[in-house]
Amino acid sequence: MAKRDLAAELLRELGQDRTQYHSGEELSARLGVSRTAVWKAACRLREQGYAIESVTRLGYRLTALPDGMTKELLEQYLQQGRGETVICYEETDSTNTRGMQLALEGAPTGTVVLADRQTHGNGRLGRSFVSPAGQGVYLSYLLRPDFDPAALSLLTSCAGLAVCQVLEQHGLAPAIKWPNDIILDRRKVCGILTKLTSDAESGTINGAVIGIGVNVTQQPQDFPEELRDKAISVREAGVTVPRAAIAAGIITRLDDLFLRQHILSQPAENLIGELTRRSCTIGRRVEVISPTGQYEALAVAIAPDAGLIVELPDGSRRTVSSGEVSVRGLLGYT
Ligand code: BTN
Repeated sequence: MAKRDLAAELLRELGQDRTQYHSGEELSARLGVSRTAVWKAACRLREQGYAIESVTRLGYRLTALPDGMTKELLEQYLQQGRGETVICYEETDSTNTRGMQLALEGAPTGTVVLADRQTHGNGRLGRSFVSPAGQGVYLSYLLRPDFDPAALSLLTSCAGLAVCQVLEQHGLAPAIKWPNDIILDRRKVCGILTKLTSDAESGTINGAVIGIGVNVTQQPQDFPEELRDKAISVREAGVTVPRAAIAAGIITRLDDLFLRQHILSQPAENLIGELTRRSCTIGRRVEVISPTGQYEALAVAIAPDAGLIVELPDGSRRTVSSGEVSVRGLLGYT
């Protein structure tokens, strides 16, 4: 039997209502332990950075949470029970790699892997994604419908929309640089990398792992020198939010889009409208870099499959997909 974690249980109790005091007597009855054990568990939580007031005759009240990336903390921001399919690592190579592994092992749709630090964070086009401890949100969301592999761009776009909506809730005005970068003040705050998983025997697609990396607390000097004028964090953009709140916000938005709204089975107009409204690529001259060559074009619209519709100098239009091209904005991000 797993060892009981009384501190985590107390945190759950106190977190249910942070405006009220919870009496020691009531807590000891609910947890089925002595009042001394409750007091010890509160001390352990304080050591982990939780601020817990204790007032004679009133009891305990949770007043502030630390900025960590543990499951207990995340559960403070998630709906009750949602944490059951969330796996939190203090350190892992890549949450996408863990997510792919879990997909192979048959983990259910909506499973989430999170890490405080990644040692081998993967970016697009074989690049790495710098993922230091204590500074970002690194999460992978597993989706296992029977979807068409052509929906890959749509998945990444939905994740981009989810991240934007969370940042907007905190008063920021993010933009989407097609296909997978979220931009604040002309710099990248988040990158998304979606991987499809296939069944080894049949070769059919049986899932997707949507990897999302958000810079949250970095100061400019925390970024590697070559990224300093290209990267930004939520804090540098002027907003201080606990990382767990951002992570939980993204998970909740993704659940809403994929598991409640079933966005991939809905007509695409709404989603494309939301993406277009936030796009900082549309209306810009872009450089399309594809395996067959490189050319300049004008980005004119987002296609129903979330591809980018570009117009060439001769007036003809074509749709480019994220898998085959890299689009570089010629005039910067905005
Ligand atoms: C990019 O900007 O090129 C995509 C970056 C994606 C980074 C995230 S962090 C969580 C997940 N795990 C990874 O190894 N990569 C993604």
